[in-house]
Amino acid sequence: MMSLTAQIREKAAAKGKTIVLPEGTEERTLKAVKTIVDQKIAQVVLLGDESAVRGAASSFGADISGAEIINPATTPLLDDFVQAFYELRKEKGVTLDKAKATMLDPLFFASMMVKLGKADGEVAGAQNTTGNVLRPALQIIKTAPGMSAVSGAFIMICPDKTYGDDGIFVFADCAVTIDPSAQQMAEFAKATVQTAVDVCGFKDPKVGMLSFSTKGSASHELVDKVVSAVQIAKERFPEIKVDGEFQLDAAIVPSVGASKAPGSEIAGSCNVLVFPDLQAGNIGYKLVQRLAGAEAVGPILQGMDKPVNDLSRGCSIDDVINVVAMTALKA
Ligand code: ACO
Repeated sequence: MMSLTAQIREKAAAKGKTIVLPEGTEERTLKAVKTIVDQKIAQVVLLGDESAVRGAASSFGADISGAEIINPATTPLLDDFVQAFYELRKEKGVTLDKAKATMLDPLFFASMMVKLGKADGEVAGAQNTTGNVLRPALQIIKTAPGMSAVSGAFIMICPDKTYGDDGIFVFADCAVTIDPSAQQMAEFAKATVQTAVDVCGFKDPKVGMLSFSTKGSASHELVDKVVSAVQIAKERFPEIKVDGEFQLDAAIVPSVGASKAPGSEIAGSCNVLVFPDLQAGNIGYKLVQRLAGAEAVGPILQGMDKPVNDLSRGCSIDDVINVVAMTALKA
């Protein structure tokens, strides 16, 4: 059977989207371009001074002949982008001069391309920190209607297929919002179900809202947050299957789910896991990756009005290609 990542690349190719890669002189980004273009995963726009981009590509032996190059400093798009950024941020004290300086930064320029529909999505982060990739996107593209926070999901492909959807889970938030409110956790449940359907093709996503307590076994204000997140998710998003609060084993192990949460339809069979905060989510996905040998694909940013994705600075060329494919799929 075709691997999940191969399926994601194939599905992306059917969509014919344009993805902007602002880190236009970065080695793995440039080396990824040929496969992205050859497999028609997306059309690629690289940002930077054309001779610098071409020079970097030839020094790395990367074929970027299929990509478009835009130099933020000389493109005719710049004036409109400066004006748009100024309008967006003038209440925050941004002047026209400051807007121009900001739009010359490729990360801000890329987010504006996506905002104004000049590209369908953005991928960066091989060179820049998560914060530097996210900030322009949060300021310019902003959250989608009905979403108050952005979250980062990981697809966890476990070699042991006992649990989840044939060993596959989607975890969130593992990357962005440090201490989400109950309302925000509920929104993450909705957004992660969408990712599980769009990217993984899940037919029956079931969301477990995680805690150190199962259905009232412990009481603490940290548990109360998860309890109210479940209530809010059920009220606001009746179309999704969501329950909790669950300990991890009650969420995914059928016998434990049956004994600890006998009244729940989905205890013991959850395949989408929403964590109570970023410490738990970030540590949790790395434990499964390192100790269970799972492949961790992501983070896939969710809740943004248009797709932007952040690479790890330790990413491989294949990671760049896969994240571009996922971004195209979410566009
Ligand atoms: N969701 C949606 N919008 C947000 C969020 C959020 N979680 N956080 C901030 N914003 C918006 C703000 O409303 C603000 O918008 P405005 O300027 O239009 O009013 C804008 O973004 C900037 O807000 P700041 O408060 O200045 O946010 P800052 O840029 O300092 O931080 C960031 C945002 C970068 C997401 C921060 O929360 C962060 O560092 N999170 C953790 C990221 C991280 O380190 N993850 C772990 C590594 S990733 C991994 O291991 C896979």
